[in-house]
Amino acid sequence: MAAVSEAATMLSSVPFFASLDGKRRKALASDGKELLYKAGDPVVGEGASGVGFYLILDGHVEVRKGNRILASLGKGEFFGEMSLIDDQPRSADVIAVTQARCWALSSWSFKALVKANPDIALVMLKELVKRLRAADSSLID
Ligand code: CMP
Repeated sequence: MAAVSEAATMLSSVPFFASLDGKRRKALASDGKELLYKAGDPVVGEGASGVGFYLILDGHVEVRKGNRILASLGKGEFFGEMSLIDDQPRSADVIAVTQARCWALSSWSFKALVKANPDIALVMLKELVKRLRAADSSLID
């Protein structure tokens, strides 16, 4: 794991954390850990219990259900929030499609972060609405 100050600097470049001041970002950075994946590595498995929230720092992942690709996600985007929000198993597989670097936060820290920062909850809600709209339109395509 990079030094905490380096991780805090990394997080400052991610729009998701734009609403946090430097001190809060530093505190948050020390709560998470950096994880590296090779292309083809599974990150999250459908049906598994959710233990972490992931923010992509570099690279790309695909969200897959069976042989359907639900979404491609890249730098600054997040995944793994659903099972932490509703305490249900992971809804889909997430696979690294390039070398990927993620910043991962435990379920407990994720919940504390969202409870303490309504701006972050709002950014997340907007993204969830965007994903729901995309899923709705794929039903009629
Ligand atoms: P979770 O269910 O915890 O683990 C799989 C993750 O894939 C899920 O959280 C979301 O972050 C992501 N995911 C599931 N369905 C979609 C979708 N339709 N579009 C984008 N991301 C999704």
